[in-house]
Amino acid sequence: SISEPLKVMISGAPASGKGTQCKLIVQKFGLVHISTGDLLRAEVSAGTEIGNKAKEFMKAGSLVPDEIVTAMVTARLSREDAKEKGWLLDGYPRSFTQAESLEKVQIRPDIYIVLDVPDEILIDRCVGRRLDSVTGKIYHVKNFPPETEEIKARLVTRPDDTEEKVKSRLEIYKQNSQAISSTYSNIMNKIDGNRPKEVVFKEIDLLLSQVQQDKVNKTKLE
Ligand code: AP5
Repeated sequence: SISEPLKVMISGAPASGKGTQCKLIVQKFGLVHISTGDLLRAEVSAGTEIGNKAKEFMKAGSLVPDEIVTAMVTARLSREDAKEKGWLLDGYPRSFTQAESLEKVQIRPDIYIVLDVPDEILIDRCVGRRLDSVTGKIYHVKNFPPETEEIKARLVTRPDDTEEKVKSRLEIYKQNSQAISSTYSNIMNKIDGNRPKEVVFKEIDLLLSQVQQDKVNKTKLE
């Protein structure tokens, strides 16, 4: 028998490297990446009803109301590809209420990863972040400059990446993180995210491989 696919949650302050690590995790483990930030930004640029509701909250660096985000996430998680390949949930839950919503419908990850990075580094990472408007690839003006002049010319800055807004996003994260962690304390793994991205990924890779192996072994016993 085949074991059930991996279910992973990744959390961490703004710019702790969630998006960067998710790209590497997807490459290796083939999970469906569900980023609430990316989903919301897509709704905003498509001008949908959800996007119009979310827009001002996001621009201000505050949280979008729980019911909007929860409906979006549960719909995405219940799609066939996520059930088949497993999922990697990035940026959700972000409040105790959101964590409870998932518990209520019995959606639970196998592992809860938290990327830990000091505040002053987070601010620098946000302010220096640039996104490729064509591929969505994540760059940083100092840490990961674009490879070519062509890419450089099409880089964009997120409207919520100013120092002031990053500080308020960080504050909101801190207010919520403990309550969320309490829901997942038995499967929580804190990782030092203030190291080169390949080093951080190596640790995540080991953890996920172990969880995957445990699931296979468990299936064999059943
Ligand atoms: P979201 O898009 O989730 O933003 P976030 O949590 O603030 O996270 P970021 O995308 O800023 O950072 P990241 O951790 O992915 O870091 P990255 O890899 O890019 O949410 C945006 C908004 O949407 C929220 O404010 C809210 O309004 C709304 N929203 C989303 N989810 C919601 C929810 N559940 N409920 C309500 N509202 C919600 O890296 C950052 C930078 O650092 C990059 O430049 C990168 O190149 C660099 N970097 C990465 N790793 C390293 C490394 N190891 N060393 C050096 N530099 C690195």
